[in-house]
Amino acid sequence: MAAIEASVLSADFARLGEQAREAEIAEVEGIQVDVMDGQFVPNITFGPGVVRALRKAVRLTMDVHLMIVEPERYLKEFAEAGADRLLVHQEACTHLHRTLQTIRELGKEAGVAINPGTPLNVVEETLDMADIIQVMTVNPGFGGQEFISSQLDKIRRLRQILDERGYSTPIAVDGGIDTITAPQVVSAGATVLIAGSSIYNDKASVAQNVAALRASTKA
Ligand code: DX5
Repeated sequence: MAAIEASVLSADFARLGEQAREAEIAEVEGIQVDVMDGQFVPNITFGPGVVRALRKAVRLTMDVHLMIVEPERYLKEFAEAGADRLLVHQEACTHLHRTLQTIRELGKEAGVAINPGTPLNVVEETLDMADIIQVMTVNPGFGGQEFISSQLDKIRRLRQILDERGYSTPIAVDGGIDTITAPQVVSAGATVLIAGSSIYNDKASVAQNVAALRASTKA
């Protein structure tokens, strides 16, 4: 069964702690905090202080997705703020192997995220250093964007590469994940679903949306 992580990017920022709690009560496996610097992506969101505040609000696994340039500058701060996993973008790292090593030395799980236009071969030399690989299924920066279906083949190929090399590394997908696209990415090999606007919206409650997403992958 696929794990679900609620991306708080689409939550009500005026009630962030409460919304994270709602996801916890809805029994998601984690939350993902989308950190954006207005440089790597055209949006600005949270810093370590918000992660520290959310750490007090939930016991859930907290995934910090660093959509920032030179993420190595802030690894220690986010680790100390309470992140359980730090995800960096391969495209933002000059020394990806060393950055992943640093995350692990901080005692945190290390994740690599790759954008839709980034080929898989850029992570092939660091498969042994990644606790999770996140395939972006939108161009990062905003919630509520259209799922890029060409990434389904990339997910399949990544799963094949990992299996051939003997890695059971989970594949996360992030962007446009809802009850329609979730079964597609799961059948392609994704096992962690990062969902924002399909969980936090005015159509249904967080609990109802999480349940619908869960049910959609149980085909
Ligand atoms: C990059 C962000 C978003 C977010 C999920 O823009 O990483 O993908 O987590 O957004 P939704 O689920 O609304 O596409």
